[in-house]
Amino acid sequence: MTILITGGAGFIGSHVIRLFVETYPNYHIVNLDALTYAGNLENLKDIEDRPNYTFVKGDITNEVFINDLFEKYKFDGVIHLAAESHVDRSIKDPLAFVKTNVIGTMILLNAFKNTWKDNFSNKLFYHISTDEVYGTLGRTGLFTEMTSYDPNSPYSASKASSDHFVRAYGETYGMPYAITNCSNNYGQNQFPEKLIPLFINNIINHKPLPVYGDGNYTRDWLYVKDHAVAIDLVFHKGKNKETYNIGGFNEWKNIDLVKLLCQQMDEKLNREKGSSERLITYVKDRPGHDLRYAIDASKINQELGWKPSVTFEEGLNKTIDWYLNNEEWLHSVISGDYKTYYEKQYNN
Ligand code: NAD
Ligand code: DAU
Repeated sequence: MTILITGGAGFIGSHVIRLFVETYPNYHIVNLDALTYAGNLENLKDIEDRPNYTFVKGDITNEVFINDLFEKYKFDGVIHLAAESHVDRSIKDPLAFVKTNVIGTMILLNAFKNTWKDNFSNKLFYHISTDEVYGTLGRTGLFTEMTSYDPNSPYSASKASSDHFVRAYGETYGMPYAITNCSNNYGQNQFPEKLIPLFINNIINHKPLPVYGDGNYTRDWLYVKDHAVAIDLVFHKGKNKETYNIGGFNEWKNIDLVKLLCQQMDEKLNREKGSSERLITYVKDRPGHDLRYAIDASKINQELGWKPSVTFEEGLNKTIDWYLNNEEWLHSVISGDYKTYYEKQYNN
């Protein structure tokens, strides 16, 4: 079986690639990634020579290139993770999100459809999506697979749009598909623009911790390796044309999470208790900031037996240790481009 995993050099993608390459020696895993600012082959250095693994650098918005790639490999399965993934960047440059997340997904869908035409037996197009498509919750309630789509940011609107196209290809062309909508991931190899790695990096460097608004926004956090296990299960055992929500059963208000992170960092860095908390700085809110996300993951739990394997305290502990032990990785991704982004985002 030949499987295309897109976005495999990114945060979640690199964990999925690793799991598939190590678990399935009989599959040929092709990692297609454009290596944008978010893609980093260092994440996969130790498995790059495996015989069942091929890396291809390329852009999913390049239709000719994608059609040639499908012609060459005739992928039985696609696990599609490549995307522009950061909400703040989508507010500054929405069109980039439409190009990759919507047009790029369409180009992959067409290539998959044209490769298998009317014979889709044992084929699957699996789209990795987000809980942000559901918009925001109030103080109570959970997102289920039946919750209506109501995206609020250009990022979530682009992901919602691509989800709809995947579904439409299933209904219109009989293309087998799966979609999963997952909550906030954290763990090693996450680019330090997202809350947890950004704040770890800032604490290391004694820089301010920019908390948006009053900090009372809530997210449901999941350890990235648990997400990768869920993706493996859905790919192999999920029902055709189904959506599964994936979440950590682990809601945290941003400010409480940041305080926990500060405590753990003080201990690990042997700093005076309370010194990291003093870096907390309340800054201008994110426009259209969703108040609360929380996932009801009972469907994937009951149908496929999945549940998170680590507690948040354990996962956070491992994550901090990884960043402290991999400061070189952190330095290498904080390039000139990162500095420009950081200045634009936080110094205005
Ligand atoms: P990421 O930004 O870390 O990685 C994205 C990867 O896609 C990078 O390697 C990048 O080089 C690649 N890429 C971007 N544009 C491309 C293009 N045009 N062609 C080919 N490759 C391209 O993202 P992530 O956090 O790992 O998220 C992966 C997927 O999971 C995304 O689809 C995202 O919407 C979804 N998701 C993320 C989270 C989360 O908390 N991070 C939660 C739920 C769902
Ligand atoms: O819910 C899943 C989504 O989680 C994924 O689809 C996205 O790809 C991923 O980026 C993530 O989106 P968020 O916007 O929730 O993640 P982020 O880490 O950017 O922010 C988490 C929360 O922290 C959010 O309420 C905004 C807040 N925040 C974030 C940053 C970067 C701050 O208060 N300050 C910051 O500097």
